Amino acid sequence: MDFKEKLKTYQELINERLLNYVRKEKCPEEILNHSMEYSLMAGGKRLRPILVLATYQLFREDIEICIPFAVAIEMVHNFSLIHDDLPGIDNDDFRHGKPTNHKKFNEATAILAGDGLLNNAYMVISNSIANATGKDLEKQIKVFKEFSEAVDRMIAGEFVDTEFEGKKISEAYLEYIHKNKTGALLKLCVRMGAILADAPQEDLNRLTAYAEKIGLAFQIKDDILSEEGNEQILGKPVGNDKILEKCTYVSKYGLSGAKEILEKITKEAIEELNIYDKKAEFLIELAKYIKERNK
Ligand code: IPE
Ligand code: IPE
Ligand code: MG
Ligand code: MG
Repeated sequence: MDFKEKLKTYQELINERLLNYVRKEKCPEEILNHSMEYSLMAGGKRLRPILVLATYQLFREDIEICIPFAVAIEMVHNFSLIHDDLPGIDNDDFRHGKPTNHKKFNEATAILAGDGLLNNAYMVISNSIANATGKDLEKQIKVFKEFSEAVDRMIAGEFVDTEFEGKKISEAYLEYIHKNKTGALLKLCVRMGAILADAPQEDLNRLTAYAEKIGLAFQIKDDILSEEGNEQILGKPVGNDKILEKCTYVSKYGLSGAKEILEKITKEAIEELNIYDKKAEFLIELAKYIKERNK
């Protein structure tokens, strides 16, 4: 299977598993459930759960133990997007080629849909932990701790991102924003896959280094796409970072400077995995995809 086919297979698997958690029953909060489903199933790339599964499969095949964590991280990611798009944060009207949650529903619903997805993520994980025993239980508790810490970092990054709009920022602070708001969840995904697969410490360290690099690369590419992407393909607005005077790698280093940094860290990320040879082909291709993607 080539990279594109494998990516699609993972995406289909994740979409199928996510659907199991969509609430369809008639109830007074039915619209809230629709709004959560609206964002969760809107057509994201599923990069975070894919990282969990692909990292796990460097060591083991049967991914079942990963599923609750893969589902949960995609829920948290969609919570972060719904809130990121709100008028009080980035004030964006489109995502995934559709009206953002607060535009489709209303602000109150969008705030609560975000809260709901965040809490659903913890419900999925706690349910999995409640049913685990022995070594599996131990691993899942470790992963759960890292999960909650990464969500904490993402929220911190979003705060600093918002707080520094329109202000001059140091290189260190810019890196802090990107590493936290975006890098923390991507790093978590790789670590979750490795820990659940019982990867030896040496592998965990190497994979963490890879993940930190692709995490930063991912947000730098997001900055570049916000400057020169195609709105139709991206499914979200282009040019809003500039309007909001966001601190980005493009505003700090210019478009060509940002692209150079992206090239360099992608290369470094791939170098971390060379030791695995063919086995890590998918993760290597994923690093290239992050750099080259147009959505
Ligand atoms: C967008 O993330 C927000 C960032 C952290 C840069 P993705 O580009 O992974 O979002 P979707 O889910 O695939 O749309
Ligand atoms: C989003 O960052 C990061 C999180 C939602 C945590 P951005 O605001 O740069 O991402 P987009 O461009 O809206 O997807
Ligand atoms: Mg933002
Ligand atoms: Mg945004």
